[in-house]
Amino acid sequence: MGISQNERQSISDLVDQHKDLPGALLPLLHAIQNEVGYVPDSAVAHIASGLNLSRAEVHGVISFYHDFKTQPVGRNTVQICRAEACQSMGSRLLEAHAKETLGIDYHETTADGSISLEAVYCLGNCACSPSVRINDDVFARVDQNRFDELIADIRGAEVRK
Ligand code: FES
Repeated sequence: MGISQNERQSISDLVDQHKDLPGALLPLLHAIQNEVGYVPDSAVAHIASGLNLSRAEVHGVISFYHDFKTQPVGRNTVQICRAEACQSMGSRLLEAHAKETLGIDYHETTADGSISLEAVYCLGNCACSPSVRINDDVFARVDQNRFDELIADIRGAEVRK
């Protein structure tokens, strides 16, 4: 997916602001993610040349820190808990169901830009497993039916906006 002219300009401005600072790569990547929402693959060459680094060095840092997104993030983030208590209560079935019904894998976003799917390792809600977080809200004892209801709520709320 290409990036917009505005995104390209924002990244270029941020590279200019950071390029003379020592240890600029991490702060620059954070600044790009804050501003654009992710660090596009197509920006790596520009970042590397601006900071006088190799592309491999920039790629290495982006892939090492899992917080950096390389794809646009959906308007809603759905996280499924994969830690032990939730797994013992069926979260593996739930995640297979989520991937199938949304048509995406972890770290991907639905084609309409609505939902990004992420794994999470304990939401502090183990007594009510399996747990799911949608944006800032944690939901307990989520089976496949409840998951479908929650997704329908997201879609319904987007239609009403
Ligand atoms: S293991 Fe899932 S909430 Fe703790």
